[in-house]
Amino acid sequence: MDIQPFKGIIKEKTGLHFESEKEANLADGIRARMSQRAMATDAEYLACLMRDGDEFHALVNLLTVNETYFFREPIHLDLLAGRLLAAWLAERKPGEPIRILCAGCSTGEEPYSVMIKLLEKYGAGIKGYISIIGADIDSDALDRAKQGIYSGFSFRDFPAALRQKYFVPTEDGRHRIMDFVREKVQFMKLNLMGDRYPDALCNIDVIFYRNVSIYFEPETQRSIFNKLAGLLREKGWLFVSATETMSHNHGVLPLIELDGIFCFQKNVHLTAHDRTGHKTHAREPSRPAAATKIAGPASVTRPHGPQDPGRPLPSPRAASRPAPMDAKTGTERSSFNDALAKAQSRRYEESLGCIDRLLAHQPSLTKGYLLKAEILITLECLDEAEQVCRQSIKLDPWSLEGHLLLGMIARLRNQSEAAVRRFKDALYIQSSCWLGHFFLAEIYAVRGEGKNALREYGIVINLLNKADGANHGPSFSLHAFSADQIQRVCQHNFLRLKQKSV
Ligand SMILES: C[S@@+](CC[C@H](N)C(=O)[O-])C[C@H]1O[C@@H](n2cnc3c(N)ncnc32)[C@H](O)[C@@H]1O
Repeated sequence: MDIQPFKGIIKEKTGLHFESEKEANLADGIRARMSQRAMATDAEYLACLMRDGDEFHALVNLLTVNETYFFREPIHLDLLAGRLLAAWLAERKPGEPIRILCAGCSTGEEPYSVMIKLLEKYGAGIKGYISIIGADIDSDALDRAKQGIYSGFSFRDFPAALRQKYFVPTEDGRHRIMDFVREKVQFMKLNLMGDRYPDALCNIDVIFYRNVSIYFEPETQRSIFNKLAGLLREKGWLFVSATETMSHNHGVLPLIELDGIFCFQKNVHLTAHDRTGHKTHAREPSRPAAATKIAGPASVTRPHGPQDPGRPLPSPRAASRPAPMDAKTGTERSSFNDALAKAQSRRYEESLGCIDRLLAHQPSLTKGYLLKAEILITLECLDEAEQVCRQSIKLDPWSLEGHLLLGMIARLRNQSEAAVRRFKDALYIQSSCWLGHFFLAEIYAVRGEGKNALREYGIVINLLNKADGANHGPSFSLHAFSADQIQRVCQHNFLRLKQKSV
């Protein structure tokens, strides 16, 4: 199949980019649709795709990655429910709801999480002050969002008590979101690559645009970010995930550090004083900049006006937080070692939560991305793992671990040529990395390239024979790469290949 014209159309119309290693996913999607439509040649299908908008969307629905879950990166929700909303509720007039958009909302977990967070903090009375829209290009995902029925994986980071409170069990063991939450969230189909966004999407106060841009190339990221910035009200906020923050700090919106969390804010020409009286300035949108730090009192105000008669508006309360609180900022802090320990004891979801919090505070902490990528590889979320690795390499192009992990991902996808390239990149950075040589040897052995495999196994044995050989791998790893075991495997394979070659 000539995949190039398909790649071109999909990228042009949706932004989704299928670089070499992901071409297989695109090809699978095309084949699935061709068989559904009983089409024999890719040329016939390409022509159909060009003229038939419905077919185009059916294909796109197969190509999107819809990975999401409730309370993903909860620090953004905490900030919204606490400080941001408190300020707005105090100044907004009745009939002027606070407008929240989840751009790339997938199956709805994100907008419903926002609603639940606000209900938890303010009670049912908040419903009159909020409007939440979830938008996505994938109509299948939107149908599922509207249905609001979820299986266990969506609740992986969500407190059981809240599931009981806001969901009802279905007969097949899943959970349906309660109507009073569901009806507060509107869903709409939206192609973020579209020339013009619907008028309904104007004057937005907060945009969540998280874990969507990772599928786009830099110029697409920039163009969509520009358009989303155009939807914001003055001083509105835009959240991307911690791993996406730096790639959007190109000056279109100023990057602000608010209570230790990084986010973008529109047209802030403000001078703020924190409690201690230090002056801080937000920067003009011009060029990538260090984040402006704004700290200050967060007065939490309850909304005025009619309350939902069924449920009184309770006092705002802090959500239960497993991580220790930072005394100055009141935000969660988590250390890398904590995250590593959790991952090493296979508490992956908890560890991912810790890392996301950590990266929100320190978005240039390369090892945070690397650990996250390792966990995602373990959980077989390879697309996400790859994006996170790329992020780490963007921060540190000489990251040995980043290149090794990309090699492991390619290997797991059976993309041996790409894996070889990655491991060679790693060895260019550190030629004494025995793990890189070991992976190369294994790939060559599987491909029947005995001579190459022999050479690489030999190098591993030599490196491990040196006293400090065990130190020539990555600085940390979740994977049990015992130098002893690997040395035995290499010696065994080396002898076997040697016998074969004579
Ligand atoms: C990984 S999900 C992210 C879900 C959620 N925001 C989160 O952080 O959990 C990415 C979503 O972006 C959507 N998406 C990809 N390209 C898009 C486009 N051009 N316009 C709108 N949505 C798009 C996909 O359909 C998918 O549902």
